[in-house]
Amino acid sequence: MKQPNWIAPSILSADFARLGAEVDAVLAAGADIIHFDVMDNHYVPNLTVGPVVCAALHKHDPKAVIDVHLMVQPVDRIVEDFAQAGATYISFHPEATLHVDRTIELIRSAGCRPGLVLNPATPLEYLDYTLEKLDLVLIMSVNPGFGGQKFIPLALEKLRHVRARIDAQSRPIRLEVDGGIKVDNIGAASAAGADTFVAGSAIFGSPDYAATIKAMHEQLAR
Ligand code: DX5
Ligand code: ZN
Repeated sequence: MKQPNWIAPSILSADFARLGAEVDAVLAAGADIIHFDVMDNHYVPNLTVGPVVCAALHKHDPKAVIDVHLMVQPVDRIVEDFAQAGATYISFHPEATLHVDRTIELIRSAGCRPGLVLNPATPLEYLDYTLEKLDLVLIMSVNPGFGGQKFIPLALEKLRHVRARIDAQSRPIRLEVDGGIKVDNIGAASAAGADTFVAGSAIFGSPDYAATIKAMHEQLAR
């Protein structure tokens, strides 16, 4: 079953010199969760922030739901650090870990909600034997590593397939889409089955965060 729509601003496009204020601003503007992109210059060719920054944000906004998207390799060593840092969701790429099932269990036993992330060319087979253990599936609609890239339309077909698989499960599992989401394509992603929408440049690059989030919700309500 589709969960209530959530807008997840990605802090990757925020002003990092004013990160706490930026998170306050998107939450006040109607953001549902905060998408926290972790890049290691190894699994992806970019480097961002780690558990220390996550902990600082959690301390700053204790009620904010932090949606950690790990683009790191290996995964397991860093899971507990993000759990301690206040992450709610921790998602990872299956290619970045040796034992996918073990990593899912590790996230769960650390008290967080596990998510699996599928890149544009990653097959859905990774959901065989794992979906029933997940709280979130994240479909990448760009190749991971950078904000501000163009949405890859094939992600819509993938979302439809994953929606059907999730609907065949009895547990609630969120279906998130990440990359190139804007006011003008969020409706299509929703129609394809997504219920959780990451948007970095579309929100933080706009002059009025509340107006942009409102416009996104209006598209979702259509
Ligand atoms: C890309 C990141 C995304 C990124 C999205 O690797 O996972 O979360 O911040 O940025 P936009 O919305 O600008 O494509
Ligand atoms: Zn992301």
